[in-house]
Amino acid sequence: MGDYMMIDTHCHLGKNDYENLDVVIKHMDNNIMIASGADMTSNCENLELVKKYSNIYATIGMHPSEVSVYNSSCLSWLESHINDDKVVGIGEIGLDYHYEGYDKDLQKKMFIEQIELAKKYHKVVVIHSRDATLDTLEIIKEYLDGYPTVMHCYSGSVEVAHILTKMGVMLGIGGVVTFKNASKLVEVVREIDLKYLLLETDSPYLAPEPFRGKTNEPYNVLYVAKKIAEIKNISVSEVLEITTNNACKLFDLDR
Ligand code: NI
Repeated sequence: MGDYMMIDTHCHLGKNDYENLDVVIKHMDNNIMIASGADMTSNCENLELVKKYSNIYATIGMHPSEVSVYNSSCLSWLESHINDDKVVGIGEIGLDYHYEGYDKDLQKKMFIEQIELAKKYHKVVVIHSRDATLDTLEIIKEYLDGYPTVMHCYSGSVEVAHILTKMGVMLGIGGVVTFKNASKLVEVVREIDLKYLLLETDSPYLAPEPFRGKTNEPYNVLYVAKKIAEIKNISVSEVLEITTNNACKLFDLDR
């Protein structure tokens, strides 16, 4: 181990997410994190983090759960910071129909406006999709076919994974792949070429085995890499080498 750098392509590094955020970040020395924005608080915190730590990059964006507070001033704030140093994408943005009371049309409008912003400035689009596969696919087909895009925390079928990767969409694989009931995601990892996969943790959520249920942290991306190596019957170094290259190329990161 330790020959190759690890990149956690999607984590949340909010001050309130961890007992001691500095320790969590320190644990990723020599590795890279991409802190995902979800709301105005995390977007602002991310812009501070990238200044403070050389190995942190950020995406900024409004998660579909922010649909009730999202407005044109959020969009102009995002536009005013999209070219800030180390802002590498817009996200996480998308559709979430999991909880009752969601407004599909408003979520779609918010998603598409942020996609158009990303495209205007040539930034990667990082997508959150929950219980909304068909609508997400429709929007990807219309706006993002062939555009640098990540489906974060991919949890869909092999069939949808093929449709996405044919459009050039990258799949973020997280700790769920280590869960005992993850047969569908294991199948996805087995079937899909490593050139389409990225490692992520979605920390502080979704800690991999053997830490399931605990607070997740970016360093645990190693356990995702180990599981992918096991599924594909290749070395962990190879998984890290290829997924790190994938992430550097997609997000245009300096190493
Ligand atoms: Ni996330």
